[in-house]
Amino acid sequence: MSIKPNIEITDDGTATLRHPVFGDTYHSLHGAVAEAEHVYIQNGLAMVHGPKARILEIGFGSGLNAWLSLLYGADNSLPIEYCALELYPIDIHIAETLNYTDSPLFMSLHTTPWETPQQITPLFRLTKYASDLTAEMQPWTNMDFDIIYFDAFAPDTQPEMWSNEIFTRLYTCLIPGGALVTYSAKGIVKQALRETGFIVKRLPGAPGKHHMLRAEKHLIQP
Ligand SMILES: C[S@@+](CC[C@H](N)C(=O)[O-])C[C@H]1O[C@@H](n2cnc3c(N)ncnc32)[C@H](O)[C@@H]1O
Repeated sequence: MSIKPNIEITDDGTATLRHPVFGDTYHSLHGAVAEAEHVYIQNGLAMVHGPKARILEIGFGSGLNAWLSLLYGADNSLPIEYCALELYPIDIHIAETLNYTDSPLFMSLHTTPWETPQQITPLFRLTKYASDLTAEMQPWTNMDFDIIYFDAFAPDTQPEMWSNEIFTRLYTCLIPGGALVTYSAKGIVKQALRETGFIVKRLPGAPGKHHMLRAEKHLIQP
């Protein structure tokens, strides 16, 4: 069952969505693409140095992070294995109105089937899971990831998503030296990530925001 969030235009001219139940926007109102580029691409994907990148995204939503990752992979000849979790998939007609690109590849991110890997381009393989991050059983727990895009709604809106228990599960599926990146730099988020075992780095935030977090898994386990 899909949802129909409202569309809003952010300060950089790119669209975001507002969730009909939670009331939060999917991106910063200071700029949707600007935020996604800064947090997830420049401070996340661009810092993966292996021959390929294995990405886990929490909250597929508009597909913007997946789209920017696909573009980054194409520009840098980097094969990408992209897994994304989403409990509330958006209606396909809403996705069609997002102003990120005219490329039909963007819509293929949305129309492609769920739960099985789909080769979107020769370099970009996508698996979308329609599942709840807070559920006991997770389809991704036996996989290895280089980077996690933690793009849940704000900790005040959905505190259950930012728990030590969830961060512990995410820590386990990162490779040593891997990292989780998120737009939120709230004190309780930093604390939960530190308690989980991450090395937490506070970095300059996207336009209009002071900070973001990059939480790294130790290269050698303590
Ligand atoms: C801040 S939005 C970001 C979405 C996406 N990364 C984007 O760029 O559009 C948070 C996303 O988390 C999803 N979400 C909320 N609760 C969830 C849950 N329990 N499990 C998985 N996804 C969830 C929402 O539906 C929404 O798509």
